[in-house]
Amino acid sequence: MSQEHSPQTTNSEIEDQYEQYLMPIWKDLDVPIRRAEGCTVEDFDGNEYLDVFSGIAVTNAGHRNDAVVEAAKDQLDEFIHGCSYLHPHQPAAELAKRLAEITPGDLEKSFFANSGTEAVEGAIKLARKYTGSKEVIALEMSFHGRTLGSLALTGNKGYKNEMAPTINDVAHVAPPYAYRCQLCDGGPCSNDCGDRLEQVIQTHTAGDLAAVVVEPVMGEGGIIVPPEGWLERVQEITHDHGGLLIVDEVQAGYGRTGEMWASDHFDVVPDIMPQAKGIANGLPLGAFTARPEIADAFESGDHLSTFGGNPVACAAALETIEQLEAGLIDNARTQGEWLTSRLEELEADHEVIGDTRGLGLMQGIELIDAGGETGPMDVAPEPDAKLAKKVSHHLREEGIVIGVGGFHGNVLRFQPPLSISRDQLERTVDAIDDALSAKE
Ligand SMILES: Cc1ncc(COP(=O)(O)O)c(C=O)c1O
Repeated sequence: MSQEHSPQTTNSEIEDQYEQYLMPIWKDLDVPIRRAEGCTVEDFDGNEYLDVFSGIAVTNAGHRNDAVVEAAKDQLDEFIHGCSYLHPHQPAAELAKRLAEITPGDLEKSFFANSGTEAVEGAIKLARKYTGSKEVIALEMSFHGRTLGSLALTGNKGYKNEMAPTINDVAHVAPPYAYRCQLCDGGPCSNDCGDRLEQVIQTHTAGDLAAVVVEPVMGEGGIIVPPEGWLERVQEITHDHGGLLIVDEVQAGYGRTGEMWASDHFDVVPDIMPQAKGIANGLPLGAFTARPEIADAFESGDHLSTFGGNPVACAAALETIEQLEAGLIDNARTQGEWLTSRLEELEADHEVIGDTRGLGLMQGIELIDAGGETGPMDVAPEPDAKLAKKVSHHLREEGIVIGVGGFHGNVLRFQPPLSISRDQLERTVDAIDDALSAKE
């Protein structure tokens, strides 16, 4: 990369400046980045790391992907800002057309925002406008963002702290979390969590349903993949009550699960689909796409964004999609299949692994206190968040950056650039194996 840094800049200088000049953001900052390429990030002290988390599932086409960088540079040379709702421009027009081609079914018209949170907020406004109804249902343990609207949907009090009240009229329903399912009580999946939506509508709403919002694979909740038939059932119940199904593909979309969209694994076409993260391989951009009759419910001025649809970000997105379709999604699928079976072997070898799960290159390892008490909701052993942190610190010492998350903070998250190789995945799994063996 061409950006120059004063030679004496170190990790600790950057961290000190963060401490002094930025508001508190996150308690557990990862390695400072000086430059990054492919699946590798480098810090200011000259250390290199294999990145298995891609800045939280964003650089799907690999850090600093050459073709994406070129596309962005070409656009930078033309113009940087056009305010896409004031001056129509080609990158936004072409990207919207491309989204109509690659999104499922008859989804056709898009609105451009700057982030996942904004895409979700916009989707809710559109659902309210189209249906004329107000109430929204989301999943417990979900994450949809941190603005007051999207935070209201987020089914995790840890993110809300003292920020309430958020928007009203949001109810929550049990997630399709098989490993800690309160409904099946350790037995085979009965898909009762899908049916439970009907009960929540009957008991928690006033019959004024605008939308049900779900992640097709829950990311922050702990890489939770719903059972077969769940999403279809949720859509059926939602439509029966006059609501729209909003499928939040912000984290699971753009090839991450081995298909362009996580909803492609299921037999549904969302009514509205928010996207962000992987869309422009790291440039800030969000979008939500809807069927024309829904999209056209917005009237002039109902929803606008000064920076939304920035031409440089749109140009980068167009090239990102090319890169994904040219082989990266296939790689996500192939490497993901290998990873699934390798993680199953790992689970068999370590009793502190309660569950492994995921699709493509969105996979998680849930760590538990194997000798301890039964954990939350009495259905599985106590989550071990401390162990998850310990393993991630061990990996950091081995030069690997991995994610830690989940509702209980006990899930190791594999969400690497989709260009990752078998060797790089093997190296990561072996390092986890070593860390867990050392603990036992
Ligand atoms: C499913 C989902 N929706 C929305 C968001 C919010 O996106 P952003 O952080 O870009 O605002 C996230 C972020 O993690 C997410 O995972």
